[in-house]
Amino acid sequence: MLVPLFTSEIIAERVAVLGKEITETYQSESVPLTVVSILTGSIFFSVDLVRQIRLHVKMDAILAQSYVHHASSGEVLIKNKLKESPAGANILLLDDILDTGLTLKTIQSSLLEQGAASVKTCVLLDKELPPEKKMTHADWFAFRIPPKYVVGYGLDSDELYRNLPGIYELQDDDSGKPEDFVF
Ligand code: XMP
Repeated sequence: MLVPLFTSEIIAERVAVLGKEITETYQSESVPLTVVSILTGSIFFSVDLVRQIRLHVKMDAILAQSYVHHASSGEVLIKNKLKESPAGANILLLDDILDTGLTLKTIQSSLLEQGAASVKTCVLLDKELPPEKKMTHADWFAFRIPPKYVVGYGLDSDELYRNLPGIYELQDDDSGKPEDFVF
């Protein structure tokens, strides 16, 4: 069953606020901001957010996977390199959801090791976990949510539900089927 959490209108409002804050943070920088999206989950968040950033941006992406079915595998598989070397770049790393922080921390550390000048992070959702279970925090997040499994607006359950315009909690997740949602 899909339980609505955030509508597309509410998401758009928060994304606009984040875009403004990010614009203000980077507007005095002389080099273009490089936005690196962690795919596939951040795809819709990324395209909406970059259009709210009123600066020159370069866009790049990292295909990464840490969750298998609904649980963390404990390791982050990074499946590609960036188009341009991150050396010297100011990078804004985007992900769909921060859970333990393993994914964000692993990729942030890797970009810094490759010589990025700075790597700030922005996530759509920040899952509430006990502090000892969080490996890192994001510089920006759109919404903080309880530790439930969520889908929609890029987030998936075994690759389904990504194209839902809003964000939903997936309850009784083994029985969840795409037909639960009426488009
Ligand atoms: P970590 O623990 O590395 O987890 O911070 C973040 C990654 O795990 C995936 N993830 C989810 N994906 N609904 C999803 O569709 C969820 O509720 C969820 N929780 C974690 C996601 O790929 C993210 O990059």
